[in-house]
Amino acid sequence: MTVRHDPRLKGFASDNYAGVHPEILQAIADANGGHQIAYGDDVYTEALQEVFRHHFGERAQAWPVFNGTAANVVSLRAMTAHWEAVICAETAHINTDEGGAPEVAGGIKLLTVPTPDGRLTPELIDRQAWGFGDVHRAQPKVVSISNTTELGTVYTPAEIAAVCAHAHDLGLLVHLDGSRLTNAAAALDVPLRALTTDAGVDVLSFGGTKIGLLYGEAVVVLNPEAATGVDYIRKTFMQLSSKMRFVSAQFEALLAGDLWLRNARRANAMGRRLAAAVEGLPGVEVPRPVEANAVFAILPKDVTARLQKRFRFYTWNEATGEVRWMCAWDTTEEDVDAFAAALAEELAT
Ligand SMILES: Cc1ncc(COP(=O)(O)O)c(C=O)c1O
Repeated sequence: MTVRHDPRLKGFASDNYAGVHPEILQAIADANGGHQIAYGDDVYTEALQEVFRHHFGERAQAWPVFNGTAANVVSLRAMTAHWEAVICAETAHINTDEGGAPEVAGGIKLLTVPTPDGRLTPELIDRQAWGFGDVHRAQPKVVSISNTTELGTVYTPAEIAAVCAHAHDLGLLVHLDGSRLTNAAAALDVPLRALTTDAGVDVLSFGGTKIGLLYGEAVVVLNPEAATGVDYIRKTFMQLSSKMRFVSAQFEALLAGDLWLRNARRANAMGRRLAAAVEGLPGVEVPRPVEANAVFAILPKDVTARLQKRFRFYTWNEATGEVRWMCAWDTTEEDVDAFAAALAEELAT
C-alpha cells in the first residue's frame, strides 16, 4: 500500500484528526481471525459489559455505536416520548454541530439556553423547564450536558450532581454527552463514575474515537428506568454494527487498563503546555479557561490566515477572530513547541 500522507504532520484542528493508538490497533488484530456471532452476540461485546460495569457501576449497560452523533440521538430518543423535549446549552454539540440530527433523524425538540461558558446550572435549566402539562409546549423531559463542554470547560462532580438533583426534582432525566468524558475525568483526577453514575446521570454517550479508537462510541444506560428500547432504536437508527466484536475489542483495550487515562492525561497536558506557551505572546488573548485539551485564543485575522497555511485548526468565531486549538492523545511536546514558535513568527511578521 502507498502511504499517501506525511505521518509526521500534526495539527491542532481536532482530536478526531489523530490516528489510532497502537494498543487499539493491536486489539483489533487480536480479535480478528475465525468467525464470531454477528450483531453483538460475540464474546468481545459480552466481555465489554463487565468493563463498563467496572467503571460505571453494576446497573450500567453499554450499546456500542459507530459515532458520537448517533450515541446522542439514540440516547435521547430512548429517553423521550414523541411529545417530549431536551434542554441543552445553546453551544451544545447536539444543537450546533450535528447537522440537526436530533431534530431531523431523531424527531427530538431541543430547548436551548445561552450560557456564559458552555455549562448549564440549575438556574439556567429553569429558563426552559416550564410549561409542564401545557399541550401547546413540547414537554421538557431531559437535560443534556456535555463534559468536557464544547468550550473546553469541565463540570466538576458537584456541578453535575447539582444539575442532576435539580433535574430529578423537576421530574427530568439527565443525559451526558461524554464525547470527551475521559479528558474531563483526567483533568479532575477523578474516576469516570464520579462524573456520571455517582453524580446522578441517567444515560451517557461515551466517547472512544477522540481518545484513540479507530471508531466507536457507546450509549451507556446508567439508570435502567431512564431509557427504553435502546436495542431497537439502535437498529432503526442504522447503528447496529454487524462486526461489533471489533468495536467492543477497542473499548476493552481502552478501558480495561489505564489507556484511557494515559491518553487523556497526555492530551490535557499538551493543552496546558500550549496555553502556557502562547499566553504571554503580544497579540494573543486566551479568553477562556484551559481546563482540558482545548485552547481557545483570539488572534489578529491575518496571523490566523498565515498560521492556518502551516497547521490545521479551526476558526471558532469569524466575528471575534477566536480560534480553537485541540490537542490529541498523540500530540507531543515537540508538536506544541513547533506550533507556538510558528505562531510567534507569524505575530512578528
Ligand atoms: C461534544 C461532542 N459530542 C458529540 C460529537 C459527535 O461525534 P461524531 O462526530 O463522531 O458524530 C462530537 C464531535 O466532535 C463532540 O465534540
